[in-house]
Order: sequence, then C-alpha cells, then structure tokens
Amino acid sequence: MSAERWSPESWRSRPVAQVPEYPDPAALADVERQIAGFPPLVFAGEARKLKRALAKVAAGEAFLLQGGDCAESFNEHSADNIRDFFRVFLQMAVVMTFAGSSPVVKVGRIAGQFAKPRSAPTEKKGDIELPSYRGDIVNGMDFTAEARIPDPRRQLEAYRQSAATLNLLRAFATGGYANLENAHRWMLGFVKDSPQSDRYQELADRITETLGFMRAIGLDPESHPELRQTDIYTSHEALLLGYEQALTRVDSTTGDHYDTSGHMIWIGDRTRQPDHAHIEFCRGVKNPIGLKCGPTLKPDEMLRLIDLLNPTNEPGRLTLICRFGSDKIAEHLPGLIRAVEREGRKVVWSSDPMHGNTITAAGYKTRPFDRIMSEIRTFFAIHRAEGTYAGGVHLEMTGKNVTECMGGARAITETNLSEMYDTSCDPRLNAEQSIEVAFLVAELLKDERQARGLPQVDAAE
Ligand code: TRP
Ligand code: MN
Repeated sequence: MSAERWSPESWRSRPVAQVPEYPDPAALADVERQIAGFPPLVFAGEARKLKRALAKVAAGEAFLLQGGDCAESFNEHSADNIRDFFRVFLQMAVVMTFAGSSPVVKVGRIAGQFAKPRSAPTEKKGDIELPSYRGDIVNGMDFTAEARIPDPRRQLEAYRQSAATLNLLRAFATGGYANLENAHRWMLGFVKDSPQSDRYQELADRITETLGFMRAIGLDPESHPELRQTDIYTSHEALLLGYEQALTRVDSTTGDHYDTSGHMIWIGDRTRQPDHAHIEFCRGVKNPIGLKCGPTLKPDEMLRLIDLLNPTNEPGRLTLICRFGSDKIAEHLPGLIRAVEREGRKVVWSSDPMHGNTITAAGYKTRPFDRIMSEIRTFFAIHRAEGTYAGGVHLEMTGKNVTECMGGARAITETNLSEMYDTSCDPRLNAEQSIEVAFLVAELLKDERQARGLPQVDAAE
C-alpha cells in the first residue's frame, strides 16, 4: 500500500469517514481552488524546526505541551481570548520548564482546530432530526435545518481566522509578551488567592530571582533573545481533507510536500483506518504527525500505521497521543509500548487524559478532574515501569474560568457546571485546572529526573 504513489489528492480515491456531504459540489470546488491560491499559513522550515524539537522529546530530552480548545469557534474570535489562552499556556510551560529542568515544546490546538468528528451523523431533539454539527469550518451549531447544511464558504472564514490568530500568537511569542521577566504579569486576570495562583506566584518569584542573578553576570534578555522569546507552534486534527489538500504546498528547498494549514496535524481515533483517506493524506506530507490511540487500537494495527506514517523511522515525525481513560490505560498502554520497543520505533509518547474520561452529569458533558489527573499519573508510572519516556500531554483547555470539568482545587460540582459552560464541543480545563495539571506534570518530570540520576531543581513543591 505504502509503495503506491502519493499525491495531495490521492486520498480522494480511498474510503473516507467523517467528511461532510456538501449539497453544492461546484461551490466547494470553487472554495478549494481559492484557498489553494492563498498564502501558506505556516512555513515548511517551521514544521521542520518543530520536528527537530519533537525528536528531542522522543529522545527524552524535552517535554511536549500541546493544548487548546476542543473546537475553535467563529463567535469567540477575540484578542482577549487568544491572549488568555496564551498566558495560561506560558504559565504552564514555565512551571514545567523550571521544575522539570527540561525544555518544553509548546504546541497549541489553535489557529485551525475547527473540524470535529462526530459519533453519529445526525442529532435528534424531540421529533426533529438534523445533521450533526461538525465544527464551524463545516456547518453551524444552531439546531436549525439551515445552520446544519455544510457551507463551503465557512472554509474561507476558518482560513481568515487561523491567519489572524497565528499573527497574534507570533506577535505575543516574539514581541515581548513572552519575556520571562513578565512571568509575574501572566498572573493578571487570574482569580486572586487561589491555591494555584499562590503556588505560581512563588515560582515566578524564583524566576525573577534567577533572572536578577543572570542579569548581574551579564546574561540579560536584551542580548539573549531566548530569554524574551519563545516558539509557539500550531496544530489541529486534519479532518476536512479538501481544506488540508488546498493548503498543501511543495517546499522549494526540499521538494517535499507540507500541509501549511498548521505546523503539526493529527489523525483522530475515528479516522485512522490504514486503507482510508486520512492515513493516505497524512503519510505524504512531511509535517510532524500525531496519531490518536484509543482502547480499540491493537498493537499490530498500530505497527502497521507506524509503518505507513513513518516508514523511515524519523524521530519527531510521529507522536502517539494516548487517550484511553483513567480506568483503561493500564490495560492497553503497556502492550503498545512493548510493540514499539520490540520493533525499535522512534516515537513521542503523549497522554491525552481528556477524551477517555468524558461523562454526563446534570445534563452536561463533563470530565472529572481527578480522573484526568489519574490518567496522567498512570501514564508516567507505566512508562517508568517499561523503561520508556513519558514525553508529553495533550489537553483541552482554555484561559477562561469556565466550569466545564468537575473538581480541581476550586471543587467545581455538578451544580456549578451551568455557571459558565460555553464550549462548542467537549469540556475544557479552565485556567486554574490547567495550572494544576502543569504542577502535577512538573512533579512527575522531577521524579523522572531523580530516577534517572539527573541534577535536581527544587521547584515543584
Ligand atoms: N525561549 C525559552 C523557551 O521558550 C525560554 C522562555 C522564554 C520561556 N519565554 C518563555 C519558557 C515563556 C516558558 C514560557 O523555552
Ligand atoms: Mn475534543
């Protein structure tokens, strides 16, 4: 299969799941033609840089932090929203970098995360049955027949929003906002005197102290850009293949194809059939690729997918994003790890502790925070036992103080869920819960360093 010729459109002759039926194919073709003529959103060199960073993760020398909305929405596209996300993301990164003493590779689920796979093609309310909402890039969330018709022009809007979001992220990352000297200021907007803000405050004090010392010996942010800048990469599920194809370009320096809709793209657990369209498309583009691994993935099938997606065993190319559920991870993960080790495959192992832990409470789709924490802990423990490296986390999170996941230091209960529940898809960690996860990961990274006999930093207490 892999010997067959690949082209940006070779996926079109494969069976395809989770792709909408557009009523007007001519209008769709016209939109795809337009997008194919637009400038790339990201550059091949950036995707390669991310791949090198992920190769370090695969080698156990860095940690991957990937996170953002379950689904971005056209309604919530404001500078405040992006800044709030970026601010929490920076706080998490700094907590993990400082305590884990290892570089953190920052990858947002952002600037392109618009298409959603659905468990059922239709949704029923009372007597009315309509096509499911498939993300703002496809149709509208309102429960009306009109809104649910797939509209190709939404792809133009998704492109526009992605470009604007990316532009702001680049400005934040390089224009001074991400300067480590601002570590205290990233607190603003945070709920005051929460357990997480106290903890963060303490860590920020230590960073300030460290930077003061460094400045005194001549290492200041003015002359050392790495102290005042960071790299933030973008990622999304490559679900709507027509859109992804339209943004796929040949890189002039290497002659390789890159999907320029984002730096990293991933394949969902529902669309990873080896002979289907999504695997076919992703195997041919050279971006870093993520593969979601759920409880139904058998070791043999996983190895087959690894062969297809990373035949040359290039480190950094493939990230296995494990989403089993806190009660299932111990049953499934060890078998996959052993298969990868036996075959000598170089991968990044990342934990998505969100998607296997979704329940319904008080009529809301939610996730118990303790199960999320538990899946992360078990993920690290299994890797320790297998002698492999727990390389990353993949989170659904927001910078806003939503009440979508239950629990956490502020103990959000079933009855609190309605207070600020506004996700366009799955329940996300709020700012405080995200920081709490970051402190947990920091502790686990620290334990890991200790187990490996590496120098310690006493920061995660
Ligand atoms: N450039 C380094 C990095 O990205 C250090 C750094 C600068 C940093 N600003 C940051 C780390 C903000 C975390 C958060 O890792
Ligand atoms: Mn989701």
